Amino acid sequence: MCGIIGYVGKAEATPILLEGLRRLEYRGYDSSGIAVMNGSSDAPIQTRKRSGRLDNLRTLLTEKPAAGHCGISHTRWATHGEPTDANAHPHNDSSGRLALVHNGVIENYQVLKDHLEEDGHVFHSQTDSEVLAHLVGNAYDASNESDPQRRLVEAVREALHQVAGTYGIVAMHADAPGFLVGARFGSPLVVGLGKGEKFLASDVGAIVSHTTDAIYLRDRDLVCLTEDDFSIENVDGDQAEYEVSTVDFTPEQAEKGEYPHYMLKEIFEQPTSIQNAFRGRLIDDQASAILGGLQLTPRELRDVDRIVLCGCGTASHAAMVGEYLIEHLARIPTEVEIASEFRYRNPPLDKNTLVFVISQSGETIDTLAAMREGQRKGHRVLGIVNSVGSTIARESDGGSYLYSGPEIGVAATKSFTSQVTLLALLAILLGRMRHLSVDAGQQLLKELRELPAKVEKILLQSEHIRQIALKYLDAKGMLFLGRQFNYPTALEGALKMKEISYIFASGHAAAELKHGIIALVSEETPSVFIMPRDSVYEKNVSTLEEVKARKGPVIAITTEGSTELERIADDVIYIPPVSECLAPILAAIPLQLLSYHFAVALDCDVDKPRNLAKSVTVE
Ligand code: G6P
Repeated sequence: MCGIIGYVGKAEATPILLEGLRRLEYRGYDSSGIAVMNGSSDAPIQTRKRSGRLDNLRTLLTEKPAAGHCGISHTRWATHGEPTDANAHPHNDSSGRLALVHNGVIENYQVLKDHLEEDGHVFHSQTDSEVLAHLVGNAYDASNESDPQRRLVEAVREALHQVAGTYGIVAMHADAPGFLVGARFGSPLVVGLGKGEKFLASDVGAIVSHTTDAIYLRDRDLVCLTEDDFSIENVDGDQAEYEVSTVDFTPEQAEKGEYPHYMLKEIFEQPTSIQNAFRGRLIDDQASAILGGLQLTPRELRDVDRIVLCGCGTASHAAMVGEYLIEHLARIPTEVEIASEFRYRNPPLDKNTLVFVISQSGETIDTLAAMREGQRKGHRVLGIVNSVGSTIARESDGGSYLYSGPEIGVAATKSFTSQVTLLALLAILLGRMRHLSVDAGQQLLKELRELPAKVEKILLQSEHIRQIALKYLDAKGMLFLGRQFNYPTALEGALKMKEISYIFASGHAAAELKHGIIALVSEETPSVFIMPRDSVYEKNVSTLEEVKARKGPVIAITTEGSTELERIADDVIYIPPVSECLAPILAAIPLQLLSYHFAVALDCDVDKPRNLAKSVTVE
């Protein structure tokens, strides 16, 4: 978690850093801070930091400007210590001449801090990160190296050898003006190469308006930057390999445009993002799909006899739809593992088990660890990822991109429908190698192509859905109920509602209602039924009746034409007809809009919900 950005060049650093922080705020917004220095080794580093949103830092900088052509900055998602000014980054060493920003967790910080305090170091925050600043400063002060740049690099290296945990850091020292040192282990860091200027950031989105030439650092890489030059080695001092990539999205894609919130923009992008997920991947003459990035031969795909799908949050819900899809269409036993459990659970996996990790950001630490655990056991682990160049994308043994474009709203929306679309392609591909008929395959390809137009139709109902939301703003809690393919959709609907409107919501397999959840049904607890006209429609109608019999308000999401529900449900939202197995892609959209309109009406910060961050790069 947390976002960091560093700049060295000829321009004023502060506006560049502030703009970068704005783009990184999705990674955390508990506090923010910057430190800049000018070209003279006599001038001290100027640090400004404030708890709360970035605007607080902006205000502070208007009152107390900070000028210089080299700087580092940070937006924080609190782990160790409350979101106060003192706990905001950058942190300084004892001399005050070194400043450092950190994304990650230093697990052994307490032991290190105790030692440092015994040696007379005074700490000003409760963070684990400040320990790193003192460790680097300590090593710097003790060094005999006369070149300040070399001395800083060696000090960083020495400090990093003492810490256990994860880090993406950028450090600078007043003795070495115009010089930045960055390093990563477990937290992302990308180098931006501009003409006469260089950048370091947690995410390429923070620098894409300045340069499209980027180097995605690997774990244990250490980079040195001046405005005209850079070098990359690893933390042991050995030469490291790197590749310069061209960033494939424009800064405009990462802007809200005419939409009031990123989340709404991303919901409305779904006709395109779903199309991007299947574009070029449907093979009509084989009634199948192609996912070239998997890098598996037909024979290897044919040998797969079990699949494990791993992810966190929304990605785990997409994985659950994937389980239903793959078992239904390809008849391959499939399991979903929550990544944070998988990494420690040691589940038995045999040699024909294929493991997929699913992640929008490609940086979620638990998903990354699950991938590495699978690989450690000798399995081929494939990624289903949105962020090009992300750690999972680079370290997985193959996989497929979603091509959804940047998703910035903290609540995942378009990535869910694209993940499910991609898993549908996988199920069709595997299914067509087994029992799925040509006719069934062709029908699914046709339906996939029809999805974008159907999504457009649902989006036209945004105002209708808003009116429904306004009726239930006093809800004490909400239930989301669905069966079969739409059980995961119900979980996703409940997650969206919790995340952005802070209304307690829980998702359930609809028939489980009578096994306990029905005790929650009351006039103040609306139930959202996801019940397209499918094989379990009638069963869902009976469950809905049970809720109505207990005076529970009901919002039903069903297929166009099921008008009889208008007589029993309080509110009905229609989705176009679609095969049962693809229905979650359509049904998720009214749920996203419902939670969005709830959150807006309740005056919640839709794109930056409290306590959350989009990319969770700490355990
Ligand atoms: C965080 C976000 C969720 C997201 C999850 C997994 O918890 O708040 O919206 O679903 O991480 O993220 P990933 O990038 O791995 O899909």
